Amino acid sequence: MRLLKSHVVLRLANSYFVDSPQPSNLSYLWNFGSLLGICLVLQILTGIFLAMHYTPNVEMAFNSVEHIMRDVNSGWLIRYTHANVASFFFIFVYLHIGRNLYYGSYKSPRVAPYSVGVIILIVMIGTAFLGYVLPYGQMSLWGATVITNLLSAIPVFGPDLVELIWGGFSVSNATLNRFFSLHYLLPFLLTALVLIHFLTLHEHGSSNPLGVNANEDRLPFHPYFVFKDLVTVFLFFLALSIIVCFYPNLLGHSDNYIMANPMSTPASIVPEWYLLPFYAILRSIPNKLLGVIAMFASLLILLVLPFTDLSRIRGNHFKPLSRINFWNLVVVFLVLMWIGGKHAEAPYILMGQIATALYFSYFLILVPVVTLLENSLVDINNRHEYLEYSTQFLEDVNKNFKKEK
Ligand code: HEM
Repeated sequence: MRLLKSHVVLRLANSYFVDSPQPSNLSYLWNFGSLLGICLVLQILTGIFLAMHYTPNVEMAFNSVEHIMRDVNSGWLIRYTHANVASFFFIFVYLHIGRNLYYGSYKSPRVAPYSVGVIILIVMIGTAFLGYVLPYGQMSLWGATVITNLLSAIPVFGPDLVELIWGGFSVSNATLNRFFSLHYLLPFLLTALVLIHFLTLHEHGSSNPLGVNANEDRLPFHPYFVFKDLVTVFLFFLALSIIVCFYPNLLGHSDNYIMANPMSTPASIVPEWYLLPFYAILRSIPNKLLGVIAMFASLLILLVLPFTDLSRIRGNHFKPLSRINFWNLVVVFLVLMWIGGKHAEAPYILMGQIATALYFSYFLILVPVVTLLENSLVDINNRHEYLEYSTQFLEDVNKNFKKEK
């Protein structure tokens, strides 16, 4: 025990994962952080083993993946785990962000871990997009073609930039090679960002569901939260095993089992399910450049919340209007996800445009208006209570005065 507190490295681990005092009222919604950490480790481990057998060449990539599935010992397990943990990674990150929005975790003093989190999300999306290109099926090739082409909308140097990224005049061997290289690199950048996320979070510690200062009632991380985190880790492993062993292609697109063919475009080109909301926002704007800007803005807009949330109270536990506002955002996000998977035709275009407008207005209009309204309602209620109290007080004084007389 003494070593845990005196050794230069162990002392650090101790202050993060053993003695660290946590609010006693943390709910299970505070478990997603540890699940995300496990996803990152699983992706790096399975990715390293996949890279041992994968060939980043347009002629061989598709077949090398089939070789992994059929010939490599437990290759199917490694590949299906990698592909499905990517989906779980996004399920957990959306729930983690949802928890942050509901409980106002982005408010001071946690603006730094929140902002680093937004950068983590963007790097995660980039990594997932690059990874999807690697099996070089039809959806890989055409997804990469559509998304890289978006940059051609940038004025003046857009078309040159796209050719620079391709390393040629279309998505080709050079593109596949650099995407593989970057897909291997980015998870390590992600790991560095996660460490900064921890460092900045450790400064003030976790918030809690009530949004109040928890200093009066804390418990050490070990054993209380180690075992609480283990509950959801086991549930995650159970769900993952069921998906990997029985429904491994549930969340994938069947077209990616067709070898990439530059001469034949698939009937519909859609990204993986977790990128559909952003794809829907991109397609709802009729102008290409503005669509690209809106898509990037839909991620970066998360950064404005610490400034547009004007509430004096952290979190929605005591704020019914903000709760309705939050669930409105959840519905809008799910509608965008659904629209992203549909063909760009009536009535989906209009629905996508309305959902996009609602998505942005949540951050820029609804949050400031609703939080200001709630502040005012609290003020009116306080004044009303104060008036009631003072009237009662004056009446009592009057009564006593009359009695004494
Ligand atoms: C690889 C991705 C990520 C990992 C491994 C990770 C890890 C963690 C961990 C372990 C915690 C503490 C436990 C918890 O509250 O769940 C945490 C808290 C937090 N994370 Fe993340 N996170 C990730 C992504 C994000 C993203 C994308 C955001 C925001 C956009 C974010 C924002 C926050 C905030 C604000 C807190 C403090 C919450 C509070 O105490 O109320 N994180 N994260």
